[in-house]
Amino acid sequence: MAETTLLQVNNLRTVFKTDDGLVHAVNGISYKLGYHEAIGVVGESGSGKSVSHLSMLRLIPQPPGKIIGGEVWFEKQNLLAMSAEELRTIRGRDVSFIFQDPMTSLNPFLKIETQMVEGIMLHKKVSKQEAKERAIELFRRVGISEPEKRLSGYPHQMSGGMRQRVMIAMALMTRPKLLIADEPTTALDVTIQAQILELINTLRREEGMSLILITHNLGVVAGMTDRILVMYAGYIVEENTTQELFEHPRHPYTVGLIRSIPKIHEKREGRFYSIPGTPPNLLNLPDACPFYPRCERHKDICKQKMPPLVENGSGRYACYFPY
Ligand SMILES: Nc1ncnc2c1ncn2[C@@H]1O[C@H](COP(=O)(O)OP(=O)(O)OP(=O)(O)O)[C@@H](O)[C@H]1O
Ligand SMILES: [Mg+2]
Repeated sequence: MAETTLLQVNNLRTVFKTDDGLVHAVNGISYKLGYHEAIGVVGESGSGKSVSHLSMLRLIPQPPGKIIGGEVWFEKQNLLAMSAEELRTIRGRDVSFIFQDPMTSLNPFLKIETQMVEGIMLHKKVSKQEAKERAIELFRRVGISEPEKRLSGYPHQMSGGMRQRVMIAMALMTRPKLLIADEPTTALDVTIQAQILELINTLRREEGMSLILITHNLGVVAGMTDRILVMYAGYIVEENTTQELFEHPRHPYTVGLIRSIPKIHEKREGRFYSIPGTPPNLLNLPDACPFYPRCERHKDICKQKMPPLVENGSGRYACYFPY
């Protein structure tokens, strides 16, 4: 692994055992992330964005979930092979995860201060006073007024937008090398969304972190990331630099996602483009392109074998008949 690589995922696979059979949520994804790099992970609901990234840190419920293959190298260690204790250290110190649902990482019974200060003291040699000062500094940075007062309050005393800011501050307490933000702004109104994303971006640059930003909204990642991974049915179907992906998308699914981005000047309400059809059932995934039933360009071969992810210039795509 080159020294510029912070994270390298090799052929990661995750399934869920359900009464109806195995749900194939993540089907062999591989990618690299460099130090200080920001990537976006996009795809419709159910494409495996959350499960793949939770799997990397072994945060999926096991059972019913099971990681059935792969390696996740973080610097020189394989996160999937280390002890639970070693992994907890990395999770608390080097990697922070902002969850899709903010209440999953806030304990309703503990004061915000307790949660922030004790978290960092477990992993870094800092005094209580230093930890509190870092918390106050971060609250200021994320735009929380009266930080001392807020710190002595409880999560339920805050609005959704405030809680999201607390989550970001909390995620940055230990100065992690990697921040994984899973839909950090859903459920917030558009203006606050933009503010929070801008904030994550500024903080990322200042702190020199790498960022994985997960979102179903391709418009959101455009201005914030160096590269984009497009996921469909638990596969990476396309990857490229952000600029190339928007200027020259190859996979028909990516083309559809880009066409679906609402445009501000679009006046005809309710007539936005959306990709026809629905994502496939992950219970029975035949060896075929999972997108072919929704794809105008498909031919017989698309129904017979999943196309391999081929390298092309700065990117990769998995399609027999790319644009
Ligand atoms: N506990 C579970 N049991 C069974 N199936 C699950 C479980 N958790 C997730 N899945 C399935 O795994 C697949 C991938 O889900 P995932 O949450 O990763 O999608 P996503 O891309 O993050 O979608 P969204 O944009 O809605 O957050 C889905 O088909 C989902 O139904
Ligand atoms: Mg998700």
